[in-house]
Amino acid sequence: MIKPISIIVAVAENNAIGKDNRLLWHVSADLKRFKRLTSGHTIVMGKNTYFSLPVKPLANRRNIIITDNINDSFAGCEMAYSIDEALQLCDAEKENFVIGGASIYRQFLPFTQKLYITSVHKSYDADTFFPEISSEQWEITEKENVIKDTQNDFSYSFITYRRKNYL
Ligand SMILES: NC(=O)c1ccc[n+]([C@@H]2O[C@H](COP(=O)([O-])OP(=O)(O)OC[C@H]3O[C@@H](n4cnc5c(N)ncnc54)[C@H](OP(=O)(O)O)[C@@H]3O)[C@@H](O)[C@H]2O)c1
Repeated sequence: MIKPISIIVAVAENNAIGKDNRLLWHVSADLKRFKRLTSGHTIVMGKNTYFSLPVKPLANRRNIIITDNINDSFAGCEMAYSIDEALQLCDAEKENFVIGGASIYRQFLPFTQKLYITSVHKSYDADTFFPEISSEQWEITEKENVIKDTQNDFSYSFITYRRKNYL
């Protein structure tokens, strides 16, 4: 059965998404949007991203954490010990959000129908990157440009992509 899987991510111009298990910027409008979109839904993340969260688990959401370590178990979370197991735990009816990090984005991309990308118009020194999105496979359905504000020295865009010809 095909589950409704979406990826939500903030990506720099050079595809950077993180360094030293931390985010690279703080954009409060983006965090608010993340909360609005994911609340009431299932979220799926790798163990590193879980550890990077300031508050764990994220409230008002089903938190699924992926790890190879079958001894790991985190309060208030559901554990998955493979991508396949995480997919089985995902909701069949409602949108599931894959929230990172790099390894989980890469492995979930083939199962994903929708991408919510915050495109940060700046490059960063980083150790984790989002995969390249091909215009042959993905089409933009929504785009909102946000010019730089007092909080940040960069502009950014909220871009939604839909997979073309998802079978
Ligand atoms: N910019 C953004 O929007 C955004 C969003 C989220 C995260 N990030 C950043 O991304 C970085 C973290 O990414 P990451 O790639 O290092 O870590 P990650 O994807 O969050 O977690 C990696 C861990 O997940 C587990 N895992 C991955 N694939 C698995 C599989 N097939 N089966 C079982 N377990 C599996 C492994 O845990 P075990 O080692 O326990 O087996 C692995 O070490 C951080 O810098 C974070 O801030 C950025």
